[in-house]
Amino acid sequence: MKRILIINGPNLNLLGRREPEVYGSQTFEDYFATLLPQFPEVQLEYFQSNHEGALLDKIHEVGFSYEGIILNAGAYTHTSVALADAISGVKTPVIEVHISNVHAREAFRHHSYISPKAAGIIIGFGLKGYEMAIRSLL
Ligand code: DQA
Repeated sequence: MKRILIINGPNLNLLGRREPEVYGSQTFEDYFATLLPQFPEVQLEYFQSNHEGALLDKIHEVGFSYEGIILNAGAYTHTSVALADAISGVKTPVIEVHISNVHAREAFRHHSYISPKAAGIIIGFGLKGYEMAIRSLL
């Protein structure tokens, strides 16, 4: 069975309540519950942290054994050399996802340290981007 881990970074625990005009009104837990029955052939897991080091530890933990990591690093996308290095350091392909179209937003969101290391990038399709990322790994 393929093992795929979705990792959400800072502030994404607030989905559903956080700027719903940008990120929608569904919680990630509710959305994740709709993903599970769509992929019965996948061992699909979800991890969220607001702490950069915890995100690094998780990538190291699964990055030599899982078939895919789907990473929405939130604001760390635009700041974290350490996350970029972690992606370079592991074997598992990482798909970068952003819920909003970061290129239609502030200039500081246009640069990603993660994109050059990602196997693929899905931006601006709302929560559906996570489903698209899973399909891309199958
Ligand atoms: C985000 C975009 C980032 O710029 C922002 O900091 C987030 C969410 C997105 O999914 O659209 O926290 O990664």
